[in-house]
Amino acid sequence: MHASVCPGVDWVGYVDWDVRDFHGYETARGTTYNAYLIRDQKTALVDTVKAPYHGELLRKLAQADPPARPDYIVCNHAEPDHTGALPALLAAFPEAVVVCNRKCQAALAQHYQTSAWQFHVVAEGDELSLGQHTLRFIDTPMVHWPESMFTYLAQAGLLFSMDAFGQHYASSGRFDDQVPAETLFFEAKQYYANIIMPYGKQVAAVLKKIAPLPIQTIAPAHGVIWRSRRAEILERYGQWSSGLLCPKVLVIYDSMWGSTGRMAQAIAEGASRPGVEVQLLPLRRTALVRVATESLDAAAVAFGTPTLNREMMPAVAAALCYLKGLRPAKKAALVFGSYGWGRGGPEELYDRVSELGFEVLGEPLKAQYRPSEEVLAQCRQAGQLLAERAAQAAQRADRGAD
Ligand code: FEO
Repeated sequence: MHASVCPGVDWVGYVDWDVRDFHGYETARGTTYNAYLIRDQKTALVDTVKAPYHGELLRKLAQADPPARPDYIVCNHAEPDHTGALPALLAAFPEAVVVCNRKCQAALAQHYQTSAWQFHVVAEGDELSLGQHTLRFIDTPMVHWPESMFTYLAQAGLLFSMDAFGQHYASSGRFDDQVPAETLFFEAKQYYANIIMPYGKQVAAVLKKIAPLPIQTIAPAHGVIWRSRRAEILERYGQWSSGLLCPKVLVIYDSMWGSTGRMAQAIAEGASRPGVEVQLLPLRRTALVRVATESLDAAAVAFGTPTLNREMMPAVAAALCYLKGLRPAKKAALVFGSYGWGRGGPEELYDRVSELGFEVLGEPLKAQYRPSEEVLAQCRQAGQLLAERAAQAAQRADRGAD
């Protein structure tokens, strides 16, 4: 299936309905690997697909009318989900020239045997004429890798944005107005939180860099193409990259015999008040992608664990490890949990949460074996405090946005 993006430009990617684990990211709706074919005096392919689907891409090129032989293959990003098909493509089209920046060339050489490949190395602002169409290259370091770049097709106002603005979202529609908006923005947010969140400063710099460009269409490397809602996704990237916080309290925890769970419930009960959203996320039944997505804009988080062999529970350790790498915006935090005869879980968790750079409110709230009514009352009180902090943080964000 081809899809015309605009005159002279077709989508020739692959819709991966099957994938449920994208290097650890739970992709409940699958994903797509988007490649784009530009037909002009010269033919260019922008990005490729994951290695197992190279045959599908070659078939699409062969079935194009007339069949397409790329003169150029633009490589915006070296990660294998977009370059895995390169060796097969260059075997089929040995005359094709790989267009990429210097860092990308080096990264490709570390992934593949590239000694026989022809390269055209580009730098920030360089242009490449295909005839009627001219490609302009825009470096976007760390969105998502050091070599990442956008390619801009000025005549069409079309931005090939590689991972940025992407979604892990397999769908029959190729465009943003052909899928449900709520699902689309949920998947775009989830993608941002789990892939792009550590690079908020770099995203803000890229948004500033592309702001003067007339953009009609944003064609990412994953998910659907933005043509009707491009202003909305740009605005949301602006919010997410700025670390904007919402009046939302998360209670992220694991429990063994229910004691830490009871404390979690009491904290959530205390935090519940009008205007503040509260979510309980029991870790052994909650995917890490959801924990990250909710953490993107929550203003306050309570983390809880019982003590297992003097340590926190493995599910809690995994969540903290995951969040630490993603570097969510700073927020108010609270630590709680239970223990039996040996202390360790909540204390260990307190240290790990402090390493996230969050403002940890007070010492860990602890219960030996079972939380007493007194401890549960303390939990409700702590929940109230978290809700107040969440509401205050959101008000500050609102004032900052005015
Ligand atoms: Fe879709 Fe960073 O690769």
